[in-house]
Amino acid sequence: MSEQPRSVGVLILAAGKGIRMHSDKPKVLQPLLEEPVLYDPLRAASEAGIRNIAVLVGYKGELVEEYVKRDWPGVEVIWQREQLGTGHAVKSAEEWWKRYDNLLVLSGDVPLVRYETLLSLRTEHISSSSACALMSFTADDPEGYGRLVRLADGGVRIVEQNDATEEELMIQEINAGVYLFNTTALSGVIDKLTADNELGEYYLTDTVQLIDDTEGDIRVVFCGDPEELVGVNTPNNLAMASGVLRKRILNSHMRNGLKCMDPSTTWIGPRVKIAPDVIFEPGVQLWGKSVIGNGCRVGAWSTLRDVSMGEGARIYGPSVISDSTIGDNAEAGPFAYLRMGVRMEPGAKIGRFVEVKNSTLGEGTKALHLSYLGDVSVGGNTNIGAGTITCNYDGTRKNATSIGDDCFIGSDTIFVAPVTVGDKATTAAGSVITKDIPNGSLGIARERQTNVDGWDERKSTVSGGVKKAGEC
Ligand code: UD1
Ligand code: CA
Repeated sequence: MSEQPRSVGVLILAAGKGIRMHSDKPKVLQPLLEEPVLYDPLRAASEAGIRNIAVLVGYKGELVEEYVKRDWPGVEVIWQREQLGTGHAVKSAEEWWKRYDNLLVLSGDVPLVRYETLLSLRTEHISSSSACALMSFTADDPEGYGRLVRLADGGVRIVEQNDATEEELMIQEINAGVYLFNTTALSGVIDKLTADNELGEYYLTDTVQLIDDTEGDIRVVFCGDPEELVGVNTPNNLAMASGVLRKRILNSHMRNGLKCMDPSTTWIGPRVKIAPDVIFEPGVQLWGKSVIGNGCRVGAWSTLRDVSMGEGARIYGPSVISDSTIGDNAEAGPFAYLRMGVRMEPGAKIGRFVEVKNSTLGEGTKALHLSYLGDVSVGGNTNIGAGTITCNYDGTRKNATSIGDDCFIGSDTIFVAPVTVGDKATTAAGSVITKDIPNGSLGIARERQTNVDGWDERKSTVSGGVKKAGEC
């Protein structure tokens, strides 16, 4: 009979408040780039192919649970009602982890650990038959971390910052907070933890020496990349971790073909998808579930969130665009502001200082200068003149404007919605359009011009002679 593979459960500790973050929000929900810190260890665990994942919640646990249930179906939530330390945290989930042969413990606030690193920890743990394998790294500034003390007899123990002697504080090898336990060994010691330390907490780190003394071998797996194991305890740590994640994401897109003119000013969120042959000018920010097609170019200092760009589309920077679709070969900007469901069909163009909200622009349609288009549906090949404005809000409701195909909208037209303009219609420049315009008609709605002949001479006569300097 072939040997059964040994089962692994992952417990992610996320019950602590995170006092050092100075925020009402639980530390594990602080945004790392744009997703909660907790999502990164969850991603690493699932990418490592581990299916039995539980998150331990406590401080503002309902909120953390809501996020987990919404975005991580299949991940279990376990409660630690009182937060008495990391040892107490793991003990709180004992009923759950006793089902597995091994337990991987991750900290919800150690987000940058890679799945490859977790796999190497597992390989080491299994091949050495250790009772516990844990990760260490060297920190330039070990302040706040637990120090890994290597004992003369080859054993190890971990001493926390607050309990360390002067000599121990000099140690730079750090406990990363990532452990893979044999659950039988862990069960054998978890009830022996005491809170006999400076903070009066039950430390998970104390299990290391207890296991070493009674249950079996401890294996330390050293990670050469200290950035990977940074603990996000303070706003400074959070900013540093964001920077590391930003570079990782950028590098992976550049490996796939992204031509990024200035990586030092470019930000790309973790859920963005970019086709290989795309150019980003300096200062581009891409967030949400944006998808950028082949041959696109995004102009300098543009910010896009949840934007889909078809092939060969172009944004001239700076522009700010959200929740919108830019069709193949369509163009927007510079200084375009598109939001709340704008749809540009292929080849449509939106230009300088144009704001568009919840509107569709048909194939080849252009709105190139100084306009506000809100709740408008425009057909294909229509030209929207400079300064066109839709009055879509009557003080109570938002009203729609519909403009057909092949129209010519004169500059400075104002549409008082709701209003419908047929195909091939024209509006005279400066018109205030309050009534529908039938197909092929000209809508003109303005005072006719009157010229007063000889005005300059009459002015002089009326004011009693020659104008004095400074008079107009
Ligand atoms: C912990 C380790 C330290 C290590 C460091 C690595 C302990 C005692 N110390 O310190 O050796 O160098 O991580 O980053 O384990 N948590 C709970 N319930 C609790 C307390 C904490 O779920 O009752 C969670 C926190 O939300 C956090 C994780 O456990 O995600 C670690 O707790 P934290 O207080 O941040 O420990 P550190 O002081 O960073
Ligand atoms: Ca921590």
